Amino acid sequence: YRDGGESGRKMNLFAEQDAWEEHQIGKATVKFGSKDKKQSADNYEFVFEDQIDFIKASVMEGDKIEDEMLMESLEESKANFTLEKLKEERKTLPIYPYRDELLKAVGDHQVLIIVGETGSGKTPQIPQYLHEDGYTKIGCTQPRRVAAMSVAARVSQEMGVKLGHEVGYSIRFEDCTSDKTVLKYMTGGMLLREFLGEPDLAGYSVIMVDEAHERTLSTDILFGLVKDVARFRPDLKLLISSATLDAEKFSDYFDSAPIFKIPGRRYPVEIHYTKAPEADYLDAAIVTALQIHVTQPPGDILVFLTGEEEIETAEEILKHRTRGLGAKIAELIIRPIYANLPTDMQAKIFEPTPEGAHKVVLATNIAETSLTIDGIKYVIDPGFCKMKSYNPRTGMESLLVTPISKASANQRAGRSGRTGPGKCFRLYTAYNYYHDLEDNTVPEIQRTNLANVVLTLKSLGIHDLLNFDFMDPPPSEALLKALELQYALGALNKLGELTKVGRRMAEFPLDPMLSKMIVASDKYKCSEEIITIAAMLSIGNSIFYRPKDKQVHADTARMRFHEGNVGDHIALLKVRSIKRARDIRDQLEGLLERVEIEPTSSLNDLEAIKKAVTASFFPHSARLQKNGSYRTVKHPQTVYLHQSSGLAQVEPLPRWVIYHELVLTTKEYMRQVTELKPEWLVEIAPHYYQLKDAEDCLEQRKCQRAKDIWPLHEAAAVEDQVFTKKARLC
Ligand code: CDP
Ligand code: MG
Repeated sequence: YRDGGESGRKMNLFAEQDAWEEHQIGKATVKFGSKDKKQSADNYEFVFEDQIDFIKASVMEGDKIEDEMLMESLEESKANFTLEKLKEERKTLPIYPYRDELLKAVGDHQVLIIVGETGSGKTPQIPQYLHEDGYTKIGCTQPRRVAAMSVAARVSQEMGVKLGHEVGYSIRFEDCTSDKTVLKYMTGGMLLREFLGEPDLAGYSVIMVDEAHERTLSTDILFGLVKDVARFRPDLKLLISSATLDAEKFSDYFDSAPIFKIPGRRYPVEIHYTKAPEADYLDAAIVTALQIHVTQPPGDILVFLTGEEEIETAEEILKHRTRGLGAKIAELIIRPIYANLPTDMQAKIFEPTPEGAHKVVLATNIAETSLTIDGIKYVIDPGFCKMKSYNPRTGMESLLVTPISKASANQRAGRSGRTGPGKCFRLYTAYNYYHDLEDNTVPEIQRTNLANVVLTLKSLGIHDLLNFDFMDPPPSEALLKALELQYALGALNKLGELTKVGRRMAEFPLDPMLSKMIVASDKYKCSEEIITIAAMLSIGNSIFYRPKDKQVHADTARMRFHEGNVGDHIALLKVRSIKRARDIRDQLEGLLERVEIEPTSSLNDLEAIKKAVTASFFPHSARLQKNGSYRTVKHPQTVYLHQSSGLAQVEPLPRWVIYHELVLTTKEYMRQVTELKPEWLVEIAPHYYQLKDAEDCLEQRKCQRAKDIWPLHEAAAVEDQVFTKKARLC
C-alpha cells in the first residue's frame, strides 16, 4: 500500500521471486518480486480492487495491514499464479508432445523401456500422465534422496496439492506420504524395504524404475525383483526409464520389452579440451569459471566437483578472487549443491539469476542426471568423481576420486545445451577422453560391499543368491564375503538360512552391523543407549560441525564430550541433541518393539554398551603398533586413528580399538573409534577370533622370542601356556 495504494490498480506482492513480473489475476494487476529479501507479513505491499476500501481505511488510520483474510486471498492468488505458470511450463517440455503415444504404449505393454535425454521431463511428467490417465497408485524410484524429495515437491506444486498428500516421497527415515498418496517418489532402497512387507507390491498399479542408467545397487536389485513380480501380476505396469541411448541392454534383460524413445531437444554443445593434462584440476576449474565470468555472455556455469569438501574449498577461493575483480565486473553468484547440503540451501540453486550476473553452481555428480538446473550454458568438467570401490579380500570399502566414464562426460556436457547452444570445458585432453576413459561406469553392484543385499534378499526368501537374475552379476567373491559376514554376525546359519537374529536385523533400515548392534543390545541391557548411538552414526559425519574458520574452537568444544576418554561411540551418546538423530531414534525405538527388544538402559555401565558395540563390530578390531599406527586383526592392514576421533588426543593411545568405518584419504583412517578389551573379542565372537588373535602385543613378542630360541613344538607349548593363562584371566 505504499507504492500502489494511490492508484488502486496495482498489487505488489513481494515473494520469493527475484525478478519483477507483472500478471493479471482477476481484476487486479499483480506484481511479483522481492524487496530487500525481507518477507515478513508487514513487508507485503498490495492493493486489490475489491479490497481497496478496506486498505484505504487502514492506510488512513496508519495501521499495518495484518488482516488474515487478506493475507489468505493473497496467498491464494499467488498459488493460482504459480499453478497457471507451471501448467504452461509443463507443455513446453520435450516429453509433452508424446504424452498420448506414451500412454498408449503403457496400455499396450506390461513392461516398457523409456529413453529420453535428461531434462525431457520423464521424472516429473510420466507419473502425472499416468495419474491423469486413471492409474491408481504410481511408485517412482530415484537413485538419490535429494532427487526424490525435490521432484516430489515440484510435482506437488504442478498439481497444486500439498506435499505429502496426493504427491509424496519416502526416503530412509523420512516418510512424507499419507493414505491419500497416489504419486510416490522414493529411493530405490525404500522400495526394496517395501518388498519385505508386501512382496507383490499389491498397493501399486505402476512401478517406474527411474534413472536406470545410473545402475545403482538398489536399481540393480530392483530389476531382478520387479521382473519377477511382473510375471505373476499381469496387471502391474513396469516402466524402466533411462537417459542413455544404450537401452537395448535393458530391453534384453526384460525379455525384449519395447523401447519408447522421446526425441531430445538438444542444442549443439561446443566441446573444449585442454592442450595438456591439468596438474591441479580444482584450480583449473576455478580459473576457467572466472574466465567465463569475465569474458563470456550471460548464462550460468555448472562445475562438476567430487565432494563436499572440494566444493567448499572452491566456494571460498571463488569468493576471495571475485572480491578483487572491481566494480566493473558483474556479480558472480556462487551456489553449492551436494547431497548433505541442508534442503533450503539446495533450493537456492534453482533461483533465477539476476540480469547481468553469472551464477556458478558447484555440484557433485548429483547434477549429472538427477537434477536439472535451468539456464546452464557453460559446463566445466574436470573429469573426476568420487566412486565407491570394494576389496572383497579385505572387506574394505573406500570412496576414491576416480576418472569418470565417457558416458558420464557426455551427460555432463549435455547439461549445457538444454535451453540454447552451450559450451563444455573439459579439463583434460582429447587424447585422454578417447583413449583413457572407460565407455561406461562400472555398475555399483560390482564394486560394493554386498552385506546389506544379502540380508535383504535372504529375508525375501531368495536363497540361491549366486543364481539370482542379476543384469550384471557381482563378483562371486564379494557375494561369498557378504555371506560370510552375515554368518559371523549370526544372521545366517551354517546352511545359509536366515536365523532369528537375521530376521530381527532385517527389520532395521540400517547397515547390517548397526542392526546387529541393536539386536545385541538386548543381551547387554542397553538398547536405549545403543539406538541413540545407531541414530547418531546413521546421520553421517556431520555431527561435529567444523567450519574452516573456527576449527580450534570446534575442536575444543568437541573434546568436552570426550572427558574420561570414553571413546567416540559413548561421546555420540552424550551429544545426541540433533533433531534428525532424534527422529531416527524415535523410529528405531518403534522397531525395537517390533522385534521384541525391551527398552533397557545401562548408562552407569559403559562397559555393557561397549560390549554391545563389539558384539556387532567385532570384525572391525585393530591393535596398536609401536609406531602409533594400528593394525587390523583380521586381514592385517595398517590403519590410523582419524583426527576427528576423541581417542587421537589420548596419551598413551589405547592398545585395542574397534572402529565404525575406514575412510581412505591420504591413508586408511578409522572413524568413530572406541577402546576395547581384547578378551571381549574371544568372549563375544569365539567363532571369529581365536585366543591368539586377541593376545596382547607384549605376550606375543614373548612368544616370538620363544620361537626364535626353541624348536617349534616347544614354542607351541609356551604359546599354549600363555593362552591358557589369558583364558583364565578372561
Ligand atoms: O527426468 P528428466 O531428466 O527427463 O526431466 P527433469 O529434468 O527432471 O524435469 C524437467 C523439468 O522439470 C526441469 O527442467 C525443471 O524445469 C523441472 N523440474 C524441477 O523444477 N524440479 C525438479 N526437482 C525436477 C524437475
Ligand atoms: Mg529424471
